[in-house]
Amino acid sequence: MPHADGGPVRSPPKRDPQEGNIYMKRSIFVAGLLAFGVTAAIAQGNVVEQRQALMKEMGAQVRTLGGMLRGQAPFDLAQAQSGLRILAENSQKALPLFPESSRTVEKTGALPAIWENKAHFDSIFQKMNQDAQAALASVRDEASFKAAMPGVLQNCGACHNTFRQKT
Ligand code: HEC
Repeated sequence: MPHADGGPVRSPPKRDPQEGNIYMKRSIFVAGLLAFGVTAAIAQGNVVEQRQALMKEMGAQVRTLGGMLRGQAPFDLAQAQSGLRILAENSQKALPLFPESSRTVEKTGALPAIWENKAHFDSIFQKMNQDAQAALASVRDEASFKAAMPGVLQNCGACHNTFRQKT
């Protein structure tokens, strides 16, 4: 195609002395991408490990609290309160640890349903936090503990039934 200004048709590009640099830059770029991918994978692994650790801690608390609830262990107000505090805290801490990017990781008991209904999933964590806070405020003795506890614990099953792989 002739140039509109009638000037000379540009000769084919000469080998650019900078070319080596471009390749080097590109390989640095690729290396950067790979490093980024690895970092992202590690970050996802951490997110899953972190939420599983928070869940495990809640499981341990619920064993203690459940023992008191069933009368298998004597009621202990301080223990009941520290357990409830952990349930309140961990439900808040776990909330941001379910990013969509962790949907496809292998070692997780989290079901894809979480990301199909994230608002509902998150709302159960919020409810658990509120119920645990309310129980913290109301529990004074064994009777108030027995009245408040089942409502808090019900959130574990409510979420697991829909959003966690059956074990
Ligand atoms: C809003 C949802 C939700 C609530 C509320 C919830 N869990 Fe979970 N839980 C999950 C999900 C999802 C997993 C799977 C996490 C994973 O493997 O990535 C899980 C996993 C667990 C695990 C296994 C952790 C491991 O070792 O991998 C335990 C134990 C557990 N939960 C206990 C509890 C207890 C006890 C409560 C209530 C006090 C509770 N959870 C409340 C969603 C929830």
